[in-house]
Amino acid sequence: MKVITSVTAAQKLFLKLKNKKIGLVPTMGALHEGHASLIRKARKENDIVTVSIFVNPLQFGKNEDFKKYPRPMRNDIGICRQNDVDYVFHPDARQFCRADSLTEVGVKKISDVYCGKFRQGHFKGVATIVLKLFNVIQPANVYFGEKDFQQLFIIKKLVRDLNVPVRIIACPTVREKTGLAISSRNAYLNECEKQLAPLIYGTLQEARKKVIRGGLKTAAGVRKFVRTKLSPLIKGVRGLSSPIKIQYIEVINPKTLERTPHIDKRNFRLLIACFVGSTRLIDNV
Ligand code: PAJ
Repeated sequence: MKVITSVTAAQKLFLKLKNKKIGLVPTMGALHEGHASLIRKARKENDIVTVSIFVNPLQFGKNEDFKKYPRPMRNDIGICRQNDVDYVFHPDARQFCRADSLTEVGVKKISDVYCGKFRQGHFKGVATIVLKLFNVIQPANVYFGEKDFQQLFIIKKLVRDLNVPVRIIACPTVREKTGLAISSRNAYLNECEKQLAPLIYGTLQEARKKVIRGGLKTAAGVRKFVRTKLSPLIKGVRGLSSPIKIQYIEVINPKTLERTPHIDKRNFRLLIACFVGSTRLIDNV
C-alpha cells in the first residue's frame, strides 16, 4: 500500500493506471466500520482500490468542527492496510485547496434543503472536492454511504448533470449493536450522550413501522410522533444533562428528494438531524 500526498504525483500515477478499473472511497478519515464496509465492497469490484483521506475545509461552516475533527492518521492507515487498499490519497491541503482557486461546483435547489438549509455552502464544498477527487483519481466506481442520504443524492445528480464518467455506488448504513449509525462524530459523545443517541434510530424505526402498517399517513403525523417520542429527552432527563434537540425531521420521496406531505408507504425515506448535547448527528431509514 502506498500513501500519496502530492497532487501532481497522484495525477501522474493515476494517468498511468488508466487501463485499470479503479474503485474510489472518498473519506475525511477517522475511519470506522462504516468506511470499512465501503472499502470491502470496492475491493471486490475493482482492480485497484484508492481511499482518499482529506478533511475538506470547503465543507465546514465558520462555527463548525473543522479544527477539532479527529485525524487519527496512523490508525486510518492501519485500517486501509487491513482491508487491502492499494493507494491512500491524503493530499496536502494547501496544494489541493489552493488559496487562488476561483471555481466552485454547486448543485442547485437540492443543496439548499434539509442539511443544506442549516449548513450553508456545505454541499457546494462537498461537490467541489468530490469532483476534484474524480479528476485526479479517474475512478470507474465510487462508493458512498446511504448514511449521508442527501450527499449521495447530490453526487448522483452532479455526475448525471456534468456527464462525469463514473458509477456511483450506494452502500447501506453500518450501525452499532444499539442501532446508532456509526459516525466519526460519535467520538464527541460523552457517556451519557452515548446512551441517548441510539434512541434516534429506535424512534425512526418505530415511525417507519407505523407508516408501513398504516398508522401514520402524513409527514406532519410522523413529525409529531418523533417529536413526542423524543420529547422527554428534548426536555432533558433527570440525571442526564445532555438532551436531544431535533434540527429537522422530514419525510421525502427518495427518487426526487422532495417532501411528501402524504406518504406513499412503498416509497419514502425519513431523514433526521439532531443535536445530542453539542454533537450534530444525522440518520435516515
Ligand atoms: P465521511 O464522513 O468520512 O464519510 C465518507 C463516506 O463514508 C461517505 O460516503 C459516508 O456516507 C460513508 N459513511 C459514513 N458513515 C457510514 C456508516 N455508518 N455506514 C455506511 N457508510 C458510512 O462524507 C464525507 O466523509 C465527505 O463529505 C466526503 C464525501 C469525503 C467529501 O469530503
